[in-house]
Amino acid sequence: TEAPASLILLFGATGDLAKRKLYPSIYNLYKKGLLSDRFAVVGVARRLKDDDDFRNWVKESIDTFGNSSEDLTEFISHFYYQSHDVTDSESYRELKNLVDCLDTTYHLDGNRIFYLAMSPEFFGTVAEHLKEDGLTDTKGFKRLVIEKPFGHDLPSAINLNKRIRSAFKENEVYRIDHYLGKEMVQNIEVIRFSNAIFEPLWNNRYISNIQITSSETLGVEERARYYDKNGALRDMLQNHMMQIVSLLAMEPPIKLTTDEIRSEKVRVLRALRPFKNEEIDQYFVRGQYGEGTINNETVPAYRNEPNVDPESNTETYVAGKFMIDNFRWAGVPFYIRTGKRMDKKSTKIVVQFKDIPMNLYYKNGSSLNPNLLVIHIQPEEGITLHLNVKKTGQGMETNPVKLNFSNKSIDGMNTPEAYEKLLFDCLRGDATNFTHWDEVALSWRFVDQISEVWANQKAPFPNYAAGTMGPKAADELLEKDGFFWWPVADLDVDENC
Ligand code: BG6
Repeated sequence: TEAPASLILLFGATGDLAKRKLYPSIYNLYKKGLLSDRFAVVGVARRLKDDDDFRNWVKESIDTFGNSSEDLTEFISHFYYQSHDVTDSESYRELKNLVDCLDTTYHLDGNRIFYLAMSPEFFGTVAEHLKEDGLTDTKGFKRLVIEKPFGHDLPSAINLNKRIRSAFKENEVYRIDHYLGKEMVQNIEVIRFSNAIFEPLWNNRYISNIQITSSETLGVEERARYYDKNGALRDMLQNHMMQIVSLLAMEPPIKLTTDEIRSEKVRVLRALRPFKNEEIDQYFVRGQYGEGTINNETVPAYRNEPNVDPESNTETYVAGKFMIDNFRWAGVPFYIRTGKRMDKKSTKIVVQFKDIPMNLYYKNGSSLNPNLLVIHIQPEEGITLHLNVKKTGQGMETNPVKLNFSNKSIDGMNTPEAYEKLLFDCLRGDATNFTHWDEVALSWRFVDQISEVWANQKAPFPNYAAGTMGPKAADELLEKDGFFWWPVADLDVDENC
């Protein structure tokens, strides 16, 4: 069913995110009939002149990053622009006039989404102004969508949250974690809770360890100023990686409601094993890339990238071992690794099952491969189950095989972009795939301890070459527990199966 009538007020209308993701997503929803006819978008920025200028901008963004060859005239006629100074009340009052007027013209029932896709330093200021200058004063719903980073550490996140909450209630705040919009991340709970064969095994009696890899080949691109102050720990682990861990580890919710799911995720974060400062090296490894080769091209070391401090101590890679001290997971390590300028762009989860109690086939010289359940998040989307079967022919030797499910093969369609799904959820008032404040606070508290220790120790950087899967210490993290990282390339969905 289509979303209710609404106005989307977009701050950061000329930014990269809006251009690459948001306009194409709004357009896709429109094209699929999921957007009400009664919709309007107000773009707020400083760079453009007027509505026409903005409409051209939106059209160009959809032509470049979307999948349309159609006439966009009707669609873009719903877009309006206001040049805006985010710190000036007068600007907000003008904005309010425009919004009120569009509300009447399009019969929007006063429904408003305020989307902050702008520099995070202004998140609090904008939220406060929206209230003070009357924009949140509406008879319909009001929702605030806020991009990451949600703070830099726990104290700054608390401060930001206070400012936001002075204008919006918790259930009106939609904190984006775009990984939660990814098809196969959303599939984790369905795989777990809709199949009789997994849930009984989903615990420390049958699972030996879980590995999550999210590797990127890209470097920091134009974001070095932001990235050099944050690093992989804050940029990827505090949000995307910890969200995936929560989804994999949570207890079955009693219902699929936002509150029930979120509270189960929160309980996982509360069960994360704390560690002493001097134990950090046993649990976490940081890396920074040096010069190397990716796709036959030489790329510079991180410290030589534009706008990066030549002596930067910022990690571009992090690997970690999470222990979840609860009844289900006691003793099962969850390993994660993520980094820039690695060998391959890939996000995968490997659930490794324990060995069977006795290998009857060992006499044939073949040790058995463990069963693996691999969830492919990107670029391919699917599931693979690794089993042992009989080698065809004489004898009883075993052969490892993969049972593959590729998402493309069943639906025959491109899965919608994460942003398209998240926007639609927000329009319908479903906050399940957004992060609750409690999740944000707990994950910052966990991450802060690591970053504080790291900030006070000089790291042996660079310690991995661009184009590799990270530093040696990350391999040792698993080796000392008797495991190894399953090589990402060997796990790929086999299209021929
Ligand atoms: C963002 C990070 O949240 O996620 C980026 O800020 C990172 O540094 C990106 O590149 C990765 O997203 P995806 O969807 O390409 O895996």
